[in-house]
Amino acid sequence: MEILILHGPNLNLLGERDTAQYGALTLTDIEERLRSEAQRLDIQPRFFQSNHEGVLIDSLHEARHWASGVLINPAGLTHTSVALRDAIEAIPVPTIEVHLSNIFAREPFRRESLTAQACVGVIAGFGWNSYILGLHALTELNKRDNPGA
Ligand code: DQA
Repeated sequence: MEILILHGPNLNLLGERDTAQYGALTLTDIEERLRSEAQRLDIQPRFFQSNHEGVLIDSLHEARHWASGVLINPAGLTHTSVALRDAIEAIPVPTIEVHLSNIFAREPFRRESLTAQACVGVIAGFGWNSYILGLHALTELNKRDNPGA
């Protein structure tokens, strides 16, 4: 199972940005942990981070040719981007949204997710483990949709 793990704006600064909220691990640290969990689950992940909305949209479009699942942390675009939401909806690939922090327990402007409306589900508030849980959720989804595969 090949999946895309997509990180939105400012997540390249993890480890130095608001560590009280997002933890001390860098994106590379998180990706290392994801890589080893993915290996255990027999998943082949491809990682991508961009600070640019259009580039994230392009990578979702490309994923429709090869990925059987997407894990996305749209970061700040979660709360603002109709275009990213539409891109998730436009591709026939099950997508799970993840957040390090519990966006529903933060400032009012973070409590709405436009992108989640196009996703199968959301995992938020478990720090870097949100991504690990997301990986497991994609595995379960794949088993459900492809029984016997
Ligand atoms: C975030 C939550 C967003 O509100 C914020 O803009 C981020 C990170 C999270 O993972 O908790 O950049 O997506």
